[in-house]
Amino acid sequence: MGVKQAIVETGRLTLVPLKRRYADDVVALFADPTISAHLGADLSDPDLARTMVDYRLAYEGPPELGHWVMVRENQVVGLAHLRPSKELPGDLPEIGWYLDTRFGGSGLATEAARALLRHGLDELGLDSVWALVHVDNTPSLRLAERLGFLMVGRGFHYDGPHSVHVALPGHA
Ligand SMILES: CC(C)(COP(=O)(O)OP(=O)(O)OC[C@H]1O[C@@H](n2cnc3c(N)ncnc32)[C@H](O)[C@@H]1OP(=O)(O)O)[C@@H](O)C(=O)NCCC(=O)NCCS
Repeated sequence: MGVKQAIVETGRLTLVPLKRRYADDVVALFADPTISAHLGADLSDPDLARTMVDYRLAYEGPPELGHWVMVRENQVVGLAHLRPSKELPGDLPEIGWYLDTRFGGSGLATEAARALLRHGLDELGLDSVWALVHVDNTPSLRLAERLGFLMVGRGFHYDGPHSVHVALPGHA
């Protein structure tokens, strides 16, 4: 097990642990309301976005897990997390991904999420990684499928109907 959150390199991106200095970049990332369309709150409201960032910055779980910004050529283009779930029982590790809408359809979110998934399963030795995706969030469902996540059920999470996905070592 690692003792601190790693920097994760992918072909086109660097995943950098979220720090206060990225707060404005993350708020700007959510300025386009479509990025929060399935999140249950309109984070294009900068006050709400800042509250969301503060919540992430207050993370106090295992130090090797947490929140990362996706950086490409010194620009924050996305956000991701891999941290104990508050929606699923037993502190199961839950992954999430958010990409600047201007970069959509380029494979960057898949690249980042795949690297974080591999980091979790291969480097950190997690027994499973879980993803909760709103049932209407087609791009995110497709991403989970591309990464080899198995859809194992449905539940009411984050104030809405979500499908529940899992990736297991050796099977994703
Ligand atoms: C979910 C989200 C990250 C997916 O973004 P995306 O742009 O579809 O994902 P990618 O950047 O990986 O791009 C994949 C698309 O580009 C295409 N693509 C182009 N080049 C590619 C490459 N080199 N590698 C993989 N896919 C590539 C894929 O075919 C795919 O398109 P398709 O789904 O129509 O087949 C994005 O919609 C988002 O941020 N949504 C808002 C936040 C959110 O809802 N997060 C999920 C919470 S569970």
